[in-house]
Amino acid sequence: MTTTTEYDTLVEQTGTIVERSPGSSRLRVRAATPEDAPAMCTILEGDQVLDGTLRIPHTTEASTTESLRQHANQQVLVAVDGDEVVGMLVLVTHLEAPRFHHVAHIDLVATHEDHRHRGVASLLIRSVIDMAEQWMAIERLELIVFAGNEGAIRLYRRLGFEHEGTMRSYAFARGRYTDAHIMARLTSTNRPSTTS
Ligand SMILES: CC(C)(COP(=O)(O)OP(=O)(O)OC[C@H]1O[C@@H](n2cnc3c(N)ncnc32)[C@H](O)[C@@H]1OP(=O)(O)O)[C@@H](O)C(=O)NCCC(=O)NCCS
Repeated sequence: MTTTTEYDTLVEQTGTIVERSPGSSRLRVRAATPEDAPAMCTILEGDQVLDGTLRIPHTTEASTTESLRQHANQQVLVAVDGDEVVGMLVLVTHLEAPRFHHVAHIDLVATHEDHRHRGVASLLIRSVIDMAEQWMAIERLELIVFAGNEGAIRLYRRLGFEHEGTMRSYAFARGRYTDAHIMARLTSTNRPSTTS
């Protein structure tokens, strides 16, 4: 069993995601399909998802499914462990906007409540960083995270996202307004330096 500190060191040294328990099944990321909708709705009903996102309680499965549809400017990825969908990520792009098509927004990341702390979200975000930076010519990958969501903020920082500012009273949650941080990762800043 790898401890969290050992895990972070391994990720830093190798740049790869490692399984917590050697021999456990491997996680992988793929595009979501319409058949994944019920599993994604289950993830979004999970613990802490309301607190970490802009979802509304008692959202119908039909409207959630509609919001998760793949289209030209929305890529939905899932992390699967064997056949089970254990995490999801929504990336929003602006591909037809002449002066803005280099910007993409991570709109939602969530891991099934039974599969947290084993690298599911890290794997999804690394996959989307690779897709955006290496294949879609995205220069700026951005996201918004609520000020109290410390676990998510740590995760984003570890993956190269920097805090750019705090938006006061950005959203309403548990009866009060809450601040949110804007964080971004710039491809040019994170490009590995080449030695000549
Ligand atoms: C935030 C969220 C997506 C994180 O998902 P996750 O899959 O648990 O994330 P990871 O497993 O990649 O990383 C979480 C922690 O587990 C640790 N970890 C990951 N893999 C590990 C492993 N194999 N062994 C030991 N520790 C591991 C990470 O280092 C990290 O530690 P930290 O909290 O001390 O920084 C999840 O908690 C969630 O769905 N929350 C509700 C929705 C939400 O708030 N989304 C974010 C909106 S901005």
